[in-house]
Amino acid sequence: MKVMEIREYGGPEVLTPAERPDPVPGDGEVLVEIKAASVNAADWKVRRGKSLAQHPLPHVPGRDFSGVIVAAGPGADLPVGQEVFGVCPTETEAAYASHILFKSELLGRKPAALSHVETAAIALAGLTAMVALEDTLHLKAGEKILIQGGAGGVGGMAVQLAHHLGATVVATARAENHDYLRELGVDQAIDYRGADLGELLGDCDAAFDCVGGGTVEGTFAALKPGGRAAFVASGATAPEATRPDVTSLRPAVSRSRERLERVTAHLEHGAWKPPVIEVMPLSDAVKAHELSEAGHVRGKIVLVP
Ligand SMILES: NC(=O)c1ccc[n+]([C@@H]2O[C@H](COP(=O)([O-])OP(=O)(O)OC[C@H]3O[C@@H](n4cnc5c(N)ncnc54)[C@H](OP(=O)(O)O)[C@@H]3O)[C@@H](O)[C@H]2O)c1
Repeated sequence: MKVMEIREYGGPEVLTPAERPDPVPGDGEVLVEIKAASVNAADWKVRRGKSLAQHPLPHVPGRDFSGVIVAAGPGADLPVGQEVFGVCPTETEAAYASHILFKSELLGRKPAALSHVETAAIALAGLTAMVALEDTLHLKAGEKILIQGGAGGVGGMAVQLAHHLGATVVATARAENHDYLRELGVDQAIDYRGADLGELLGDCDAAFDCVGGGTVEGTFAALKPGGRAAFVASGATAPEATRPDVTSLRPAVSRSRERLERVTAHLEHGAWKPPVIEVMPLSDAVKAHELSEAGHVRGKIVLVP
């Protein structure tokens, strides 16, 4: 099989094409021929050696994919020929490849209405947005939510889901992304450059921060007393709240078929449309990482082996 692997930590140029033997599925495992794998912001952090999950080198990055089962081990609960999608456990990610060995029970059946490229684009981003808004913030209809980074992969899925759940949605992005935000369902778009979110908002029931670093203070400031904020770009634990009257939360984005099937159910119920997607060959992973690390991808980049 072909892969793009990291042999040493560093810049995008350390991503290197390589050939490896096709793995053979063991008990409960399947071999999936990958048709599309998405680029997540986590990938360049892994490549730089800055990820929370440490991997032995050489390492094949890539956290989510869509494809077809081409071999099944004993006890696998999905058959050869089944179209599936998956989100890798962080310690075993390896989706920048033509094939991946995977526990059958962790795979979801690919949504029939989406292409492989669209499915790969929504897998981890949709899962993360769903866990943050539904399982962590418990967002309700009629509430007001701020989404920091609304034009990105996770942020775009969060905007759409919050709108679908009946919330009033405010999101941050540069002005050139505001039309895109409105297409996704944003009620109020804010250019984060120079914006004081405490002054502009301060009345949000909830906030979801998909950017981290310099955005954290503004995320807390946007909340009303009693508000709750969730963070996925500020490390393994929630940042300490900068005020005593709000709650700071870190979603636990664990992988399971049940959760992937909830992602599919949201698609079927119209919560999500696929985001804007830039498709590139897997061999262009270096270019994809340059774009991702620059921090201004609109929607998603998807790699095709
Ligand atoms: N399981 C997990 O915990 C989990 C899962 C997935 C992702 N994550 C983390 O979540 C974060 C987002 O991932 P992603 O893949 O969605 O990222 P992404 O798609 O690469 O995000 C790019 C977006 O960030 C926006 N952005 C950059 N700086 C901003 C700022 N200061 N304020 C508001 N928006 C800003 C950009 O909009 P403009 O071009 O308009 O600036 C761009 O649209 C990453 O840190 C990732 O590691 C965690």
